[in-house]
Amino acid sequence: MDHFDIKDGVLHAEDVALPEIAAAVGTPVYVYSTATIERHARVFLDAVADVESTPEKPLVAFAVKSNPNRAVLAILTKLGLGADVVSGGELLRARAAGIPADRIVFSGVGKTADEMKLALREGIYQFNVESEPEAEMLSTVAIELGTTAPIAFRINPNVVAGTHAKISTGGSEDKFGVAYDRAMAAYARAAELPGLNVRGVAVHIGSQLTNLDPSRAAFEKVGALIADLRAAGHDIVTADLGGGLGVPYDPAKPTPPLPDVYGAMVREVTAGWNVRLLFEPGRVIVGNAGVLLSKVIRVKPGVTDPFVIVDAAMNDLMRPSLYDAYHEVRNVEPDGSRMTAHIVGPICESGDTFAKNREMDAVEADDLVTFMTAGAYGATMANTYNSRALTPEVLVSGNNWALVRERQPIESLIAADKLPPWL
Ligand code: LLP
Repeated sequence: MDHFDIKDGVLHAEDVALPEIAAAVGTPVYVYSTATIERHARVFLDAVADVESTPEKPLVAFAVKSNPNRAVLAILTKLGLGADVVSGGELLRARAAGIPADRIVFSGVGKTADEMKLALREGIYQFNVESEPEAEMLSTVAIELGTTAPIAFRINPNVVAGTHAKISTGGSEDKFGVAYDRAMAAYARAAELPGLNVRGVAVHIGSQLTNLDPSRAAFEKVGALIADLRAAGHDIVTADLGGGLGVPYDPAKPTPPLPDVYGAMVREVTAGWNVRLLFEPGRVIVGNAGVLLSKVIRVKPGVTDPFVIVDAAMNDLMRPSLYDAYHEVRNVEPDGSRMTAHIVGPICESGDTFAKNREMDAVEADDLVTFMTAGAYGATMANTYNSRALTPEVLVSGNNWALVRERQPIESLIAADKLPPWL
């Protein structure tokens, strides 16, 4: 459920008509709904509220990569969420948004010594370590700083997540985590390292998961590993079950499992684990809380269907060109008529295509359109290809709205290049 609805014939974000934002800020622009973000955060918190989690309630650490806007993080921290970060930059952003360090977990296969130092100085809750060499380095860095690093190993359970290959992470040939069969040896070695406090297990098998069976299989493996580790004398007190729950993109497809169904599965599988549970949801919190608002530049006749050329492009929303992802396209002021078209951006490659032969609201030049469900992995993945400035972001709350990221001036992009002295 989201808060983007037609009122008096015009698409609104909560109580703000989208043309008002387009007139003030220009297009393309990302528009987020506070009420939708809050609703999804609450739904997820409720869904996992009564899992067994000791001694504290579960930690829901929002995957910052999905939407790192500081305003979005500030909404979530007020609701009690923490952050799952994968770089020093994300860690600093989370802290700048007011997320307490003891609600931050640090994932990722390539943490550098500098990033480890930063996280240790901040005093984060846990490092999710993805390899034995990373554990060795983290121990050395922690000793240098005169401290110990709280860690979980991220396990690669070798399950097929059933999602797009580029966002599957739990197969044995994926770069993530320590292979399940090596886990006991990795924990034994880490327990000997004086800079580490080995205390948890973590797993994350992929994103946009639409079937819970692979997650269940992965969690069952985590449960078995916790028992084996305890039998070997390790004091395991946390289990991080990652993120990955999918959201509906294509109205013609079945809705992915809702958070309460996911929560019930987790409750069942983790009963008796006697650990504090951690979760790292991203998309399910912010996915349908954002739209990319764009303007039709012109409609060009095609041999079969026409090309709707919009002022947003693959640099603003990469998901269709990277993953063939589906984003519903709506006319902001629909008149009920429909058309079939290719929806494309202005960038000079054929990959800059949002949809082919799409049946959609009829549009013509100067109409405003929205790409729906663009709140996760939208603005955060934008880039400046074709010297297009980064897209601004707007946050709506009731009948208020504010610019939460300015449109990048094209001059700043050009000024960032420096000429060498000989030119
Ligand atoms: N935890 C870890 C360790 C992750 O790698 C990810 C996502 C998450 C949590 C959050 O997953 P979520 O709940 O959002 O599914 N750019 C792609 C998605 C990449 C996901 C990467 N990792 C897309 O646009 O679909």
